[in-house]
Amino acid sequence: MLLVKTIDELREQLKPLARQGKKIGLVPTMGALHNGHGALIKASAAECDVTVVSVFLNPIQFGKNEDLGKYPVRLEADVKLAESMGADYVFAPSVAEMYPDGSPMTTVRDEKLEEMYCGAYRPGHFRGVLTVVSKLFNISGADVAYFGEKDYQQVFMIEKMVRDLNFDIKIVRVPIVREESGLALSSRNEYLSSDEKYKALGIHEGLKKAKIAYSSGERGVAKLRDLVLKSILGNRGIVQYVEIVDRRTLQRCNGLLPDDIPVTILVAAFFGKTRLIDNIEL
Ligand code: PAJ
Repeated sequence: MLLVKTIDELREQLKPLARQGKKIGLVPTMGALHNGHGALIKASAAECDVTVVSVFLNPIQFGKNEDLGKYPVRLEADVKLAESMGADYVFAPSVAEMYPDGSPMTTVRDEKLEEMYCGAYRPGHFRGVLTVVSKLFNISGADVAYFGEKDYQQVFMIEKMVRDLNFDIKIVRVPIVREESGLALSSRNEYLSSDEKYKALGIHEGLKKAKIAYSSGERGVAKLRDLVLKSILGNRGIVQYVEIVDRRTLQRCNGLLPDDIPVTILVAAFFGKTRLIDNIEL
């Protein structure tokens, strides 16, 4: 396993491998790796000849009052975890290496989806994500890239970007990895006190209740959303949004859900000062 810090070095390493026909897998991350990231790395190591894990805390996807300054950083432990999951390279560039001219003027946006769901509460966030992910695709020349369904809107927008801009890369989705308790693994769970962590289980519990109600025939969007809202509010969470979306388009559903539409519930909620997201396919 090699730790690489510059774009030139990564290209020098990967280009000959690509010429030999090796299949290159990319796992973009912001570090503070946990077993959710581990599942992506494992999937890549199983399907690709070479696995590159990028560890880059991307400043342009954070808002001014967000947690960039306190986001956990621990490269040494990340390198160990990546290696144990089967990574061949960790690419950990500096901010100056990725953005030598400061915040880039050339960016990638989806003007519609960037305003919805998480994007509505995090202006500029998805522009920062799509821009850095495009750069990582171009820098690595990867054949396949792995993203978690925990960030449901993110993976949807990346798949759409790949189609819209004809990136020659395949996107693989990896299901959400949860703690035994049901809490979705996240680098941000480290911000939670033990009490908040316990209460945060209300998110997944609410989602499960809605799924059970849906399986028993409930089709009312308001009723299904209510089950999630109540479970979060009952645990003193503050809901940012709970939406039921058509997972083919990510458009919001209202009224009664027709049986032939595949739907997912998306949630963002605060426990204390920590913002958590989760989702469940119905
Ligand atoms: P980060 O939050 O570090 O997540 C990196 C990848 O790990 C994402 O694809 C995310 O969906 C996945 N992931 C995180 N927790 C997961 C879990 N519990 N189960 C399954 N997958 C999980 O997402 C980002 O970084 C950034 O926005 C990035 C795409 C790297 C661009 O900067």
